Amino acid sequence: MPPMLILGIESSCDETGVALYRSDDGGRLLAHALHSQVAMHEAYGGVVPELASRDHIRRISPLLRQALAQSGCSLGEIDAIAYTQGPGLAGALLVGAAFAESLAMALGVPSVPVHHLEGHLLSPLLSRTPPRFPFVALLVSGGHTQLMRVDGVGRYTLLGETLDDAAGEAFDKTAKLLGLGYPGGPALSALAEKGTPGVFRLPRPMLNSGDLDFSFSGLKTAVLVQVRELGGESALTETQRADIAQAFQAAIVEVLVKKSSAALRLAGLDQLVVAGGVGANRELRRQLDARAKKTGATVYYPEFEFCTDNGAMIALAGALRLQAGTPGKAAGSFAIRPRW
Ligand code: KG4
Ligand code: ZN
Repeated sequence: MPPMLILGIESSCDETGVALYRSDDGGRLLAHALHSQVAMHEAYGGVVPELASRDHIRRISPLLRQALAQSGCSLGEIDAIAYTQGPGLAGALLVGAAFAESLAMALGVPSVPVHHLEGHLLSPLLSRTPPRFPFVALLVSGGHTQLMRVDGVGRYTLLGETLDDAAGEAFDKTAKLLGLGYPGGPALSALAEKGTPGVFRLPRPMLNSGDLDFSFSGLKTAVLVQVRELGGESALTETQRADIAQAFQAAIVEVLVKKSSAALRLAGLDQLVVAGGVGANRELRRQLDARAKKTGATVYYPEFEFCTDNGAMIALAGALRLQAGTPGKAAGSFAIRPRW
């Protein structure tokens, strides 16, 4: 297949991402532009879907212009347009999908609807030292926690997943219980670094369940009970807050590390890819690396900027799908899949 220029568009939640990817020999990311709405949603303690959609509308064209300028390419050079079809917020997805499909129609190029999680799964391939197929992927985001066996583009086997809250959701909800702002994950993990191990002990849900599934809602409830016993969130000292954050992070990281390690063993593979926002967590990285050192496995992380939502992973997923022979879709009617 001749090299193609793929435009990637991400708008499933609170980040607008636009990227240009050239699918020649090794593949190259030419440009990526991103706008995070975190500051806008902060005041509300979470993502407000209607505000998210409106902001995607405001940002998407300027970001495209920015990515084009960065890449030195013109609109007319684009060969295909990949965009996130789902899962995500319906209104937010519609903005990206409508924009991508309209542009594809105007340019007379095919579109490639992409599953958001496939973008995350493949994002480590954007790094300079990418993993090779097959590998096991630990996908830990605000909406999903899954262990997958990845044999190639489009060849994914689910090995285990969360039965309730996602890992990022558990971080965010626990952060709220500790009076930290939104999004709670990064704030909680920064606080945990200051905590003393062993002061509080929290359960490790499903650690020895014998399968590769997870459950995190009980852990969040255990934190709630602990906070209540200490007289409520407002009565906590800074030290107690940090010690609880430490205990929570230690519990969740231990479960993620143990199950990832078990997944590698079961699959008979020695490459683990970590994707999704929680993959930015430093303690998780430390523990995964320590474990891998013992077992001789290699752990791959996307660059920090590609851990959270972005357009580059969508452009990449679209490019790889086209390369693997999936035909692009004729531009025109389209559907989003919020609960895909
Ligand atoms: O993949 P992502 O950007 O969005 C989706 O959910 O698709 O992941 C966002 C999640 C949030 O729950 C956020 O709190 C969490 O990733 N997160 C972290 C860290 N950075 C982001 N959780 C723990 N430690 C971090 N350093
Ligand atoms: Zn995501």
